[in-house]
Amino acid sequence: MDNFRYYNPVEVVFKENGMAEAGEIVKRYGTNALIVSYDDVSMFRDKIDAFEKDLEKHGVAVTEFFRIVANPLMSTAREGVRLCIEKNIDVVVGFGGGSVLDSAKTIAAGVLYDEGDIENMFVFSHSCVIAKPPVRSLPTVMISTLSATGSEMNQCAVITNDKTRQKSYVWSDYIYPKVALLDPALTVGLPPYQTACGGIDTMAHIIEAYLNGDTSLNLTLQDYVEEGAIRAVKDTLPVVFRHPDDVQARGVMMWAATMALAGFINAGTMIFTPMHQMGHVLSAQYNATHGATLAAMMPAWMRFFAKRDDNARYKLFSKRIWDCDSIELAADRFEEFIRSFGVQTHISEFGAKKEDIPMLAQEVRSVSFGPDDMLGSNPKLTLKDIETIYELAF
Ligand SMILES: [Fe+2]
Repeated sequence: MDNFRYYNPVEVVFKENGMAEAGEIVKRYGTNALIVSYDDVSMFRDKIDAFEKDLEKHGVAVTEFFRIVANPLMSTAREGVRLCIEKNIDVVVGFGGGSVLDSAKTIAAGVLYDEGDIENMFVFSHSCVIAKPPVRSLPTVMISTLSATGSEMNQCAVITNDKTRQKSYVWSDYIYPKVALLDPALTVGLPPYQTACGGIDTMAHIIEAYLNGDTSLNLTLQDYVEEGAIRAVKDTLPVVFRHPDDVQARGVMMWAATMALAGFINAGTMIFTPMHQMGHVLSAQYNATHGATLAAMMPAWMRFFAKRDDNARYKLFSKRIWDCDSIELAADRFEEFIRSFGVQTHISEFGAKKEDIPMLAQEVRSVSFGPDDMLGSNPKLTLKDIETIYELAF
């Protein structure tokens, strides 16, 4: 195992219909709440109305900030910060999926940020890390409505800089939420495509750690835990797809998503997220759904390594998850699994053209390559490798 520090102060309340307790939870942290959510909340309007009534009952004033879109923007977060200052907000509630929760974290930290524009907290280049992470934040309560991101229980937020179209992240112990409220009943009614993309994102979070493990380390424990979590999602996503009202199955997906990125199941592995780095560029360029970008990257990634010698992790993954000895066959099975939910597995389906590939690879290089001009991965990858993987995903 690699050396690691594990710290996670987030209180998790996992409860079917737990929304009924949300007002009481928020009241613990403030009396003047900003609720951050999507620009279209029609799907949740009745839930939000009930929540706001509950907050009122607990003496918490409410300001709505319903402006968040998928692949959330820095400019929107800035508006949220301004609103917080204007309204003297003392607690921020994220009600939504990853885009909303990441924006809520950024806004809450932005209110107390004294290193200039909030853009300065974000890492936009791995080769030249000049980010100044926040050291303070308003308290946040995260109410997850989409099983995918894990943002509700971690110290990271991803935002797209609308000036540069680059997607990158802030990482700080000070942006851990106070509470993650996980109510699987909230995800009933989520459209099938979003449900599937969320499940694929969850798988990707675990698979990144699994495939990029350092083979010189003893990862027996992490491997079994990660395999179990991947299998749980692989078995449960089809159940949710067939039975969208199955709250138990929704609960499995929800807790798997939270666990996948809470730092626990991959502690002691070498954590790289190269597939995410390549996927982020697709989201930034084509506004592709995050989970779908990973659906395109993962099988291509496997096919790339099938042709190389340093693919021991991929063989293990093929055998233990896809029940076969061939990485190629496992990639086919994985792609078939993804497509069974109607999710794209080719970057051309996002609108990418063949001639875009060198540009996409350069974008990965400018944001995610290290000082050695390689993409953090295990093994590390060159610009040419990135182009080849995009070609395999075309
Ligand atoms: Fe992700």
